[in-house]
Amino acid sequence: MSTNGPNDSGDERETPTSSSGGSIVDDISENENTTVFRDKRLVDPYTIVDHDRIYGRDEQLAAEAWAFRDNLDGERPPDLLLYGPSGTGKSLTVKSVAEKLKAKAAENGIKFDFVSVNFKSMESRTLDRAVWELGRQTAKKAGVVWDIPQKGFSTDAKYVRLYEIVEDHFDALVFILDEIDALTDLSLNDEPAYSRLLYSLSRAMAEGHVDTLISTVVITNHPKFLNNLDSRTDSSYNPTDIAFSDYDANELREILSRRRDAFEPSALGEGVIDFVAAHGAINEGDARRAISLLRDAGELANQNGDSVVTTGHVETANKSLLNNRVLEIVGGLAPQKKLSLYSAAIIADVNDGKASSSAVYKLYKTVCEATGDNPFTQETMCRHLKRAGTYSVLENSITSEGFKGGIHLQFTFTVPVDAVINTLEKSSSTFDSIDSSKIRSHARAILSKS
Ligand SMILES: Nc1ncnc2c1ncn2[C@@H]1O[C@H](COP(=O)(O)OP(=O)(O)O)[C@@H](O)[C@H]1O
Ligand SMILES: [Mg+2]
Repeated sequence: MSTNGPNDSGDERETPTSSSGGSIVDDISENENTTVFRDKRLVDPYTIVDHDRIYGRDEQLAAEAWAFRDNLDGERPPDLLLYGPSGTGKSLTVKSVAEKLKAKAAENGIKFDFVSVNFKSMESRTLDRAVWELGRQTAKKAGVVWDIPQKGFSTDAKYVRLYEIVEDHFDALVFILDEIDALTDLSLNDEPAYSRLLYSLSRAMAEGHVDTLISTVVITNHPKFLNNLDSRTDSSYNPTDIAFSDYDANELREILSRRRDAFEPSALGEGVIDFVAAHGAINEGDARRAISLLRDAGELANQNGDSVVTTGHVETANKSLLNNRVLEIVGGLAPQKKLSLYSAAIIADVNDGKASSSAVYKLYKTVCEATGDNPFTQETMCRHLKRAGTYSVLENSITSEGFKGGIHLQFTFTVPVDAVINTLEKSSSTFDSIDSSKIRSHARAILSKS
């Protein structure tokens, strides 16, 4: 088996384990005779796979390994800043290098370890909670009880206990601060929590609060967040940058091919890997989504009692992944924003996927009339829609189409429009008062007049 043990890092989900590779739950839900999986952990996005399954990240792996080596030489390694889009191997590469180094350090009698916390998965994203979580995970790695309750202790007291544990149990320790830009809490004199955290950690290292070699690896999708560092932090924190870019279909195919043995020898149908890779390339070149899609296609085959995964399973699994994603984004919008998005989706639906802001606004006013809501101004409505764009439901662009000339703001959906419409209609009782076929013919009328 060439996966490392279960992912035991940070606040992240724990991977199922058992001697045979599946958890008890799997054993119950999967009839032994009909599973297409041989080792499902290989298509679990949280598994830290070995180097031989990592494709196309030699440069990043080398840079990480080079930095980490200092831990073995008794020197403090440089801090690292890993940035790039979601699913591009940031967490994977750094954890796999850290695992390797840990084994090497142990051979040399050096107590090295790494503590990874994903701040996006914390319930409350405050500095106090972040320090508490770092303490809890560090205690876990040290094999001691984290005896500090969340409430009733100051943040300083939490730091003190954290450093005590660090000092007592490790010669060298790397803090992997994953998705650190989630720590935007501004409770401290307008300084974001991540800035304060980096300041405290770098000061502890520089001022020698502890003898342990402490270093940080910051992981972020948005490298610009560093622009908001407090000037004090900025001067004491100078990380080495490592960039990750998204994958194209060929790279995704290479990555997925190295997971083939997640499946029984003849359980992957013709062209399935290529098909998933092609879908993944459309989905922003995100390897996490590609791997999940491959797993979901396998699950679907199992549910249907099929012994071979086909492109048809991939197609269906992709649809339901997209629907879930749309539901996740759209379901959480405020009611008025739903009405804006609904109007844009209806216009796009009857107009080859394109929706100009002026047509959307005309329809939006009709929609508001039907629901009894007060319409926002066109500017506000557009602002709502642009913001929906940041959640990757739609994109906006400026066009100068039409023979009347002039400049228009135009929206195009990046997820299937019918999924957006269906999700919205089911998401709130507001939509009960809208007759969708009437709204559609109204939309056609608006478009024919413009
Ligand atoms: N170059 C790669 N080779 C093999 N698997 C990869 C590669 N890049 C990403 N993956 C897989 O894709 C998923 C997401 O990768 P991860 O490192 O968690 O992304 P992120 O950049 O968001 O931290 C994981 O399952 C990981 O194993
Ligand atoms: Mg990650």
